[in-house]
Amino acid sequence: MSVGAHYQGIIERYRDRLPVEASTSIISLAEGNTPLIRLENIERKIGRGIELYAKIEGQNPTGSFKDRGMTMAVTQAVAEGSKAIICASTGNTSASAAAYAARAGIRAFVLIPQGNIALGKLAQAMIEGACVIQIKGNFDDGMQLVKDVASAAPVTIVNSINPYRLQGQKTAAFEIIDALGRAPDVHGIPVGNAGNISAYWTGYSEYAAVSPATASCSFCTDVCRYQAAAKAQSRPRMFGYQAAGAAPFVRGEMVDEPETVATAIRIGRPQSWDLAWAAVRESGGAVASLTDDEILQTQRMLADTEGVFCEPASAISIGGVLRDIDNGNIAEGSLITCTLTGHGLKDPDTAIKQSEGAVIEIPAELDAVKSAILDNL
Ligand code: F0G
Repeated sequence: MSVGAHYQGIIERYRDRLPVEASTSIISLAEGNTPLIRLENIERKIGRGIELYAKIEGQNPTGSFKDRGMTMAVTQAVAEGSKAIICASTGNTSASAAAYAARAGIRAFVLIPQGNIALGKLAQAMIEGACVIQIKGNFDDGMQLVKDVASAAPVTIVNSINPYRLQGQKTAAFEIIDALGRAPDVHGIPVGNAGNISAYWTGYSEYAAVSPATASCSFCTDVCRYQAAAKAQSRPRMFGYQAAGAAPFVRGEMVDEPETVATAIRIGRPQSWDLAWAAVRESGGAVASLTDDEILQTQRMLADTEGVFCEPASAISIGGVLRDIDNGNIAEGSLITCTLTGHGLKDPDTAIKQSEGAVIEIPAELDAVKSAILDNL
């Protein structure tokens, strides 16, 4: 199907590259097909022939990249006859699980860390009818509990340890190559539970393996994705970024008490440890960490330089590559893509807190408005 026709989500678009049967009924909210925006203002500032693109995953139906994986995981759960799904979450997975469960007419149980979930994400899980279970513990505690309970109760885990999740999430790499007509040189991505970096690497690797000889098809009416895939004989270097207080990959060991303002990636015991290391090593990439201040500064800079409002955990990918360009780890002239994993509106509290003083209070009078404008032109 061409993307121009009525778009029906990643499974319909990439069905031949995903583990679904022709007869399977698809649970979808038309996820995917997200914008790849060139960050021209930032490019102008940094120079050095860098081309920088952001994959805006906040424009998925529930505002994060999780929807790509969730359409696959819930479609498979329903196909297997499951009546309930469960996940531990720092927020986005729970919002997505709740939405896809609602769509499928099944029950969602979500375990979230008390006091460390952004308000928008909590609101989503609640209104979408999930059974929201707050635990007095962090994401890693929740993940262990989910694994324990799923072996004893009739529920399907939809965290990224469910392999269908990564299958869905790999489609973001396909979309990037379809849009650019080639693979990027470098891909920057936040790392929390480490599923997404693994999924992108799978996607890039699959497209790189498509041989030009097979690169034709009869059903793509606009850009033929097989031709795009055939051009992608290279794969990007994968650069993963973590918050300094929750950086097990940078420290080379699990972290017991992860802490960061970027609550989405407040994770000390990532489940996809080996897969993520493989992605970094095979690609010749790297992992690095950013402080909370660096994360928030980048979030704000993206919003007021490019008009792109992402959540703090997402901004880390741009902050990270900018630093790696500066220190020479990323070569001049590179084509770089970064995943902005979640929408800024997920976490209004953090945005407002760091924009203090941005609101001018005046009497409701013409003169006061005039001088407010003149003072701030
Ligand atoms: N960015 C955002 C906005 C996230 O919500 C997450 C993970 C990540 C990045 C990291 O991705 O785990 O695949 O390495 N959020 C999960 C959740 C843990 O529960 O919503 P990852």
